[in-house]
Amino acid sequence: MQVTVVIGGASGIGAATAHTLTAAGHRVVVADLPGTGADVDVDVTDEASVEALFERAVADHGSVTGVVNCAGVSTLARVVDHDAAEWRRVVDVCLTGSFLVLKHAGRRVADGASLVSLTSLNARQPGTGLAAYCASKAGLVSLTEVTALELAHRRIRVNAVAPGLVVTPLTAPAMDIDGIRDAYLENTPLGRSGEPTEIAAAIKFLLSDDAAWITGETLDINGGAHLQRYPDLVGLIEKAFA
Ligand SMILES: NC(=O)c1ccc[n+]([C@@H]2O[C@H](COP(=O)([O-])OP(=O)(O)OC[C@H]3O[C@@H](n4cnc5c(N)ncnc54)[C@H](O)[C@@H]3O)[C@@H](O)[C@H]2O)c1
Repeated sequence: MQVTVVIGGASGIGAATAHTLTAAGHRVVVADLPGTGADVDVDVTDEASVEALFERAVADHGSVTGVVNCAGVSTLARVVDHDAAEWRRVVDVCLTGSFLVLKHAGRRVADGASLVSLTSLNARQPGTGLAAYCASKAGLVSLTEVTALELAHRRIRVNAVAPGLVVTPLTAPAMDIDGIRDAYLENTPLGRSGEPTEIAAAIKFLLSDDAAWITGETLDINGGAHLQRYPDLVGLIEKAFA
């Protein structure tokens, strides 16, 4: 039996992943912020809470064989205008939170487990206004590689997926602004946004024995958007509200 902890599993890509894995026969523990209706509360910025999550999952289920970390937040500000506290808020969830999850997952999961983090197209493609998010997600690619090296002796695989635009509560507000959705689609060769289930399918693969020889990898899932350029978000927003 695969026992998989899905963090940030109450919404968007995480919720689709929890659903896909349950349908595939995993025993899934959904963890998310308090008040989100998850099975277990966790705040990835709080080390004691992350440690307690894995202690409890192992105590409840005997062992944990998979972890998916979908917790993420974003913000929009040019570097020269960026509030430092807002910068830290995004880096704290997206990068330091990912580190805390890999640290405590790495200590508690079974040998041979598979750990998957959610990075982004923005790890490789810069977007105006997205400095904190881009820097965090690029850092997470590197963190994935280092952790894969360090845990390979226990056959623990450490990978990431990097989605392009998927409409979820994280991205939906921007889609209502004139020109933004079109700019994303123009820069996506396959001409559409992704579905949460399409990201979940790749995560399911990385958790499975079919991916037994894949570690330290970041898988782009973006309709080819990494081949083109990222929309000028700040420019489009300034134009829409001029
Ligand atoms: N939607 C996209 O287009 C897209 C593209 C690339 C990458 N991603 C990444 O995919 C992941 C999931 O995003 P989504 O689009 O499903 O967003 P979402 O807002 O629907 O889900 C994010 C989840 O993270 C949880 N979360 C936030 N802060 C947390 C914290 N401190 N501790 C624990 N949980 C926390 C939220 O409660 C929420 O359930 C994120 O890491 C995001 O950066 C999303």
